[in-house]
Amino acid sequence: MRKVNGVNNYNNKVVVITGAGSGMGRAMVGEFLSRGAYVAALDINLDRAIETVKRLDGPPAAFPHQVDVSDERSVQTAVDAIIARWGRIDLLCNNAGVLDGHAPAHEVSLEEWNRVMAVNLTGPFLMSRAVIPQMLKQGKGAIINTSSTSGFSAAGGGSAYTASKHGVIGLTRQMTFEYGARGIRINAICPGATATPMAMPEHTTSNSPDMDLAISKVPARRWCKPEEIARLAAFLGSDDADYVHGSAYVMDGGWLTAARDPF
Ligand SMILES: NC(=O)c1ccc[n+]([C@@H]2O[C@H](COP(=O)([O-])OP(=O)(O)OC[C@H]3O[C@@H](n4cnc5c(N)ncnc54)[C@H](O)[C@@H]3O)[C@@H](O)[C@H]2O)c1
Repeated sequence: MRKVNGVNNYNNKVVVITGAGSGMGRAMVGEFLSRGAYVAALDINLDRAIETVKRLDGPPAAFPHQVDVSDERSVQTAVDAIIARWGRIDLLCNNAGVLDGHAPAHEVSLEEWNRVMAVNLTGPFLMSRAVIPQMLKQGKGAIINTSSTSGFSAAGGGSAYTASKHGVIGLTRQMTFEYGARGIRINAICPGATATPMAMPEHTTSNSPDMDLAISKVPARRWCKPEEIARLAAFLGSDDADYVHGSAYVMDGGWLTAARDPF
């Protein structure tokens, strides 16, 4: 029986997080463990998922497992393993994602387009499809899909990234329409520039925007911290958000208020 004092609205709940080996996913694992949840920490890179768990108050409340969210069989294997271990899934955080190279559309190969779509959009679909039957059996569950400010506007990525993140919001709304009345709440999180490995200079290309310049223009004048996104996820997945269905919840330091290109 898991029980933590203080903010404890996840005691004995089972939370599944994809992309748990880095950045926001890693912060989410810490946040949900600290709130008393059992956490399945999934990542394509199992070593990094294990490292996430080792850094925290991990076993036996945490279960690192390999998954490629773009692969149907891999997704089913991971979800089956979680249900076999804990018998339920209360919250799925579809957080895994990849950035593209910001190239203009006419320079994007079909291979690159498909790679980004497969992880960012097909991934949340496949994971949700595998988890929803369990949530329907329970009569209750929640899903949080990580979109982005790129789910609303251009320039945060290239065409594949921006289209995939717009798609995540569409998937969130459609699934809300299909499952909201059957006990499953589904919402999207739309972070702005967040200080994770994805946003660091080693991932930039010659087409990438000048992030220092962008941050200097964002109303908050700073990067978002992954822990702030994790706390938003903890709110959206909890009963405190019981009336929040189908939202695309922006946490961007005011990025989207800019009337002009923030770059
Ligand atoms: N960092 C930002 O500024 C920012 C802004 C808006 C939205 N986002 C979104 O937030 C989410 C988390 O990003 P992050 O910044 O923490 O990135 P990150 O690169 O630090 O972490 C992403 C994780 O996803 C994993 N992953 C990649 N492909 C996978 C696959 N096929 N199956 C399973 N796991 C896979 C990676 O191994 C990695 O551990 C992503 O969906 C990203 O698009 C990020």
